[in-house]
Amino acid sequence: MDLFEYQAKELFAEYGVPVPKDKVANTADEARQIAAAYAAEGISKVVVKAQVKAGGRGKAGGVKLADSPDDTQEKAGKILGMDIKGHTVHRVLIAEATDIESEYYLSFLLDRANRTFLSICSVEGGVEIEEVAHTNPDSIARIPISPLTGVDHAKALEIVRAGRIPAEAQEGAAILAERLWAMFVDEDATLAEVNPVVLTPDGKVLALDGKVTLDDNAGFRQDLAKFADLASTDPLEAKAKEKHLNYVKLEGDVGIIGNGAGLVMSTLDVVAYAGEEFGGIRPANFLDIGGGASAEVMANGLEIVLSDPAVKSVFVNVFGGITACDAVANGIVSALALLGERGETVDRPIVVRLDGNKAAEGRQILHDAALTIVEQQDTMDGAARRAAELAGTGSARTPKGA
Ligand SMILES: Nc1ncnc2c1ncn2[C@@H]1O[C@H](COP(=O)(O)OP(=O)(O)OP(=O)(O)O)[C@@H](O)[C@H]1O
Ligand SMILES: [Mg+2]
Repeated sequence: MDLFEYQAKELFAEYGVPVPKDKVANTADEARQIAAAYAAEGISKVVVKAQVKAGGRGKAGGVKLADSPDDTQEKAGKILGMDIKGHTVHRVLIAEATDIESEYYLSFLLDRANRTFLSICSVEGGVEIEEVAHTNPDSIARIPISPLTGVDHAKALEIVRAGRIPAEAQEGAAILAERLWAMFVDEDATLAEVNPVVLTPDGKVLALDGKVTLDDNAGFRQDLAKFADLASTDPLEAKAKEKHLNYVKLEGDVGIIGNGAGLVMSTLDVVAYAGEEFGGIRPANFLDIGGGASAEVMANGLEIVLSDPAVKSVFVNVFGGITACDAVANGIVSALALLGERGETVDRPIVVRLDGNKAAEGRQILHDAALTIVEQQDTMDGAARRAAELAGTGSARTPKGA
């Protein structure tokens, strides 16, 4: 899970990594109030920073200096709502402006290829590290870190010296690195990047930016929910997550349910392909119900897919394996009954293709159930085409397979 800069900075502060004073604003008015409160404390200049999970915010016009509460409000107003690399800005960070003597780069990351951790440090910070790697590769130090010994003060000094950070900033940068490493370990991060680490004219070393990625696999021992980005999470995706379904909302018209990520992905392709014939019909979602397609899982899946108003038809594509098709067919029948009991009206056509283990039995079950909205197709291509056709015309025809 990637964190916003303001979340990364909160963690930094918890671990004693020095950061400028800052506060998040959701509106331009809030931004003004924060700046006014800072002004009352004698902080007259602030930086207004777009909070998006994308790099290069500064270049995109998402980081601006402001010298009064009015100016802060105006700049925040311009930045809020901005689109940066496909991310809409919902929040801005109002940070005390720091006088900068020099900017450096420091990060810790998981080095998968070498099965260890790595620190990257460079005296050339502020700009993208990829750019520095191109223009001045010698200025970038890569120091492996053993997970057994970690980063103590001596190791931290080794890192900052290898990055050629000047003598006057070495001690401060080493302390910052040690604390950043403590956070990296305790929070189960896979990336902690500070670009820039700055040296101020009065000799302090601070983290002015922060990018942190936390390991989702550590969710069982970390509270990751508190970092969830509710403003940008699709409500259906959030609901699906609660039900432990693997769902991704897309922009099309055909709801897709399948078992196995690979099958679902190829289903998206065949539906998009078939949909070209019907005026650009496209898949409305990705939903993998996994191996065991019980009635409850199927009902939850159908409920999520059907609660998307854009869905005009549903394609249930199942290849029976360990979970045989008869179980899936029973799952579909009970799911529709279950949805009826929950008070959901299932009014859009559902095209089902069953193949693999016990396909004949499964088809028979659906046939016998004679559900008016369920139609069977023998092949994946045929089913994709039919689902696209139904979505294109927007109405169910007389079911064929029932
Ligand atoms: N609090 C601050 N005070 C003074 N200058 C700042 C402050 N925060 C950022 N800056 C300046 O703005 C530049 C860009 O800020 P920052 O690194 O946070 O964003 P960015 O690099 O554009 O974003 P990203 O890291 O997402 O690519 C910094 O290199 C620094 O020069
Ligand atoms: Mg930066």
